[in-house]
Parts: sequence; C-alpha cells; structure tokens
Amino acid sequence: MPKQKNIIAPSILSADFARLGEEVTNVVEAGADWIHFDVMDNHFVPNLTVGPMVCESLRKNNISCPIDVHLMVQPVDDLIKMFADSGATSITFHPEASNDPAKSLELIKKLGCQPGLVLNPDISLDVLDPYLSDIYMVLLMSVFPGFGGQKFIPNVLDKIKNLRQQIDKKNLEVRLEIDGGVNSENIFDISSAGADTFVAGSAIFNNENYSNAIKNLRDNFF
Ligand code: DX5
Ligand code: ZN
Repeated sequence: MPKQKNIIAPSILSADFARLGEEVTNVVEAGADWIHFDVMDNHFVPNLTVGPMVCESLRKNNISCPIDVHLMVQPVDDLIKMFADSGATSITFHPEASNDPAKSLELIKKLGCQPGLVLNPDISLDVLDPYLSDIYMVLLMSVFPGFGGQKFIPNVLDKIKNLRQQIDKKNLEVRLEIDGGVNSENIFDISSAGADTFVAGSAIFNNENYSNAIKNLRDNFF
C-alpha cells in the first residue's frame, strides 16, 4: 500500500478564539486540508476548550473541509454522539479515556464518522494491537496534550517508524497523524519517519501569513 497523500491540519487551539470563524476560513483559503479541533475537558487534560456547539457553528458558517475532532476528554461516548451530530468528519480519542475502546470506535463508525485512536508519548504502540486493522487513523502525540506551543519530543520519531512498519507490513490504509510541536524545521524528519497527517497549531497561527506558513511546511516534506 503506498503512503497516502500528505495532509496539513491546522489546530484551532492556536487560533484567535474571538474570531474563530474568520480564522478557520482564512486558514482553509490558505491551503489547509483539514481543521484539527482540540476538545479539552479540564479533567483528562489540564485545560478547557470548546465543544460540539462550536463545531456545529463552523459548519453553519460554510466551513466544508474535513473537521478532525481530537477528544481529550473522559469519558468519551456522549461527546462522540454530540460531535457526530455537529458535523465532525473524523473523531479520535485516547483509549484509556474510554470504558470500552472497541465499542467507542464502533459508535463513531455507526454514526458515520472516521474512527481513530490517540496515544500519548508514554503509551506503547502495543495498545493498538486489537484495533489497528479496523481504524481510519492513529494519532501519535509528540507532546503531552493540554497546550499549544510545546516542543516536539524527539524520541517519538522511532515510534512513528515502528508504527509505519506495522501499517505497511499488514498492508493497511491507516493514516498516521502527528500532533504537537510540528514545524517547518522538523517536518522533514517526521514525514521521512512515516507520518502522513500533520497537525500544526503555533507553526501556522503564530505566523502573519497563513499561506506562507502552510507552504513552508509542505516545502519541507520528505
Ligand atoms: C496539544 C493539542 C495540539 C496542539 C498543537 O494538546 O492536541 O493539537 O494544539 O499545537 P502546536 O502545533 O503548537 O504544538
Ligand atoms: Zn490535537
């Protein structure tokens, strides 16, 4: 199975929340493929962001690109339903936040969204074993979730390589997404290790020109 098309997914966490609709429109016009929608509950992670009403509101304001919902909440099932109703495209969650990850993945599928699992930097790839052939995406965290603007943890590169080998060996079409500290300096190493989907918050939104920021990332792909 050849590696899939590279995707850039700006994280709204680094956008100006007072002007969120405009920010999302601008970043899509600047060439974003997806919007990465970080949902934090101040319980599973030490920060609080936005919920399904905001996702629905983006849809009502003509945001038609895929919305990649990253749930950093516990438990997950109620919010899975609400986000599916609010226009999410893919929904990923941390397996330790669900009482029954297989059921939560099934629920996402049943509701018409693409299911994925997220692993924190200290969680082993072994956790994926029962699920890997049935999911759309694995999101590997390259920072501990909660805040934008953190530094990429370099030993995650080996984890990416290892997961890429597993995906290729089993001939799967699972997307391999990376989230945390991605920028134009490290995206070459991250993409050559085997990631195909790149979340970037501060590397895009902390830039005056979103087109340049996205182009800078794409120009440095492996
Ligand atoms: C971290 C979030 C990320 C983060 C990415 O908790 O899940 O999506 O906002 O932001 P940067 O690219 O600034 O690390
Ligand atoms: Zn995220």
